[in-house]
Amino acid sequence: MRSKSLLLPPFLSLLPLVQSQPSNLSCPSNFQTCLPFVPSSNLSTPFPPTSPTDYGVIGPPLQAVHSSSSPPTGLAVDPNQTIYLTYPRNSGPTPYNVVICPSFSTEQPWPNASIQNCAPGQDASTCFINVQNVVLDAQNQLWVVDSGIPPGEKEAREHGAKLMSFDWQTKAWKRTYVIPSALYYDSMNANDVRINNTLGANGWAFITDESAAGSLLAIDLATGHAIRRLYNTTVTRPDDKYVGVYNGAPVYLWNGTRKSYATTGADGIALQGGNVYWGVLASRRWYSIPQALLIDDTLTDEQVLAGVVFPSQIGSEQAGLTADDKGRVYICASEHNAIFYVDTLAAPTISEEVDAVAAGGSGVVAPEDFVVRTLVRSALVQHADSAAVWDGWLYFCTNQLELAPARQYGNVDARRGPFVSYRVWVGAGPAV
Ligand SMILES: *[C@@H]1O[C@H](CO)[C@@H](O)[C@H](O)[C@H]1NC(C)=O
Ligand SMILES: *[C@@H]1O[C@H](CO)[C@@H](O)[C@H](O)[C@H]1NC(C)=O
Ligand SMILES: *[C@@H]1O[C@H](CO)[C@@H](O)[C@H](O)[C@H]1NC(C)=O
Ligand SMILES: *[C@@H]1O[C@H](CO)[C@@H](O)[C@H](O)[C@H]1NC(C)=O
Ligand SMILES: *[C@@H]1O[C@H](CO)[C@@H](O)[C@H](O)[C@H]1NC(C)=O
Ligand SMILES: *[C@@H]1O[C@H](CO)[C@@H](O)[C@H](O)[C@H]1NC(C)=O
Ligand SMILES: *[C@@H]1O[C@H](CO)[C@@H](O)[C@H](O)[C@H]1NC(C)=O
Repeated sequence: MRSKSLLLPPFLSLLPLVQSQPSNLSCPSNFQTCLPFVPSSNLSTPFPPTSPTDYGVIGPPLQAVHSSSSPPTGLAVDPNQTIYLTYPRNSGPTPYNVVICPSFSTEQPWPNASIQNCAPGQDASTCFINVQNVVLDAQNQLWVVDSGIPPGEKEAREHGAKLMSFDWQTKAWKRTYVIPSALYYDSMNANDVRINNTLGANGWAFITDESAAGSLLAIDLATGHAIRRLYNTTVTRPDDKYVGVYNGAPVYLWNGTRKSYATTGADGIALQGGNVYWGVLASRRWYSIPQALLIDDTLTDEQVLAGVVFPSQIGSEQAGLTADDKGRVYICASEHNAIFYVDTLAAPTISEEVDAVAAGGSGVVAPEDFVVRTLVRSALVQHADSAAVWDGWLYFCTNQLELAPARQYGNVDARRGPFVSYRVWVGAGPAV
């Protein structure tokens, strides 16, 4: 990848990439605005507006942590606060599929260069075809989820749809879980993954399938057994003729001058309190289900579907969710240049009584009492795609997805780099 210095808006503090920091969830003394859960809509913009460009900024300022010359989709942070990004091949080849970011604007293929592109005839379980995301688990292992679908094709390559785990320190490959080809039907498209290390004998992985039918997958990390559930149900399928909004403009799919509609199914995923949360991309809907239902082979599809909870719409299309250890689930609200969040646990930081749930306090909030709130809204948030929590910070990458050729009239590429990843203080660690 290119390495060059980039100009940043003056109010952005450039993050010095510290190689090692103690885990300490108090606000860093050099960062004044660690108030993520205090409404702060007047940080920089007068209201009522006095100028056509007075859009409200919500939340604390963002710290830029990495600058990419190409648009990334996936992001992970390791215990040294080093960032990893994925450059998937959904709209064409990319030289490196997964990179580590040694500095603000430099990148190196990770774990190495030779794994980045399967060679013709190579066993597709041993190399990258089209990695969508990289995530850190609670045992500090890094996981890559590969859709196995080569650029321009619709079906996963044999043995290509898979999860691979790696040691974060040595970069050594540890294990590969190939999604069996019996589950590839109707263009299964593995998109995002979260790992629960303490479920079952050796943990389980949960994966969203963003195909037009949509589904969720669960993989038993002890045995490799894989289950595909909720296939082509209303809770994984996109809205009919969905039209989203981006930077104030409605978004369609375009083939030259021919209009169609996004059909992306289940996409963002997060684990919180024993539940799997996911959003359907071409919709403003999200859902949850107890993880125990998704991993239970003995249930019928109807029983699994009956266990799905629909708390409410979330007010935005999204391509990414994540969760912290204080019960919050974060939503990359791409239609609003924002990150939203929901408290699934009552906490002293919650200052409003809602329904019968008192302010402050403790305990689980019932899904019907969830309130979607705004963590941060900023013009800099140009389609946050993946997010990860580490050491008090929420990190996310941005990629301007809606400005890519498939979503622009005449298929122009309206994306303009650099594509900056940011972090914002949330004062929590990752959900475990
Ligand atoms: C860790 O947090 C404490 C307050 O809880 C603070 O006094 C100390 O300076 C912090 N250390 C670092 C390295 O940030
Ligand atoms: C919002 O405006 C009020 C009144 O000017 C001010 O007291 C307050 O500090 C402002 N809040 C923020 C977060 O800037
Ligand atoms: C993490 O940081 C420690 C302390 O600086 C260093 O010894 C170690 O090599 C780093 N690990 C990686 C994988 O960068
Ligand atoms: C690249 O990494 C993979 C996974 O760890 C490993 O199998 C392979 O031998 C490595 N290749 C080189 C040239 O180091
Ligand atoms: C998914 O379900 C819808 C609604 O029942 C149906 O119209 C569609 O054909 C199904 N898709 C597949 C791939 O089976
Ligand atoms: C776009 O339209 C052209 C011309 O009608 C057609 O040949 C092509 O298959 C279409 N592409 C897609 C991805 O639908
Ligand atoms: C992981 O599974 C364990 C055991 O069921 C559960 O207690 C825990 O809440 C789950 N973790 C998350 C983040 O949901």
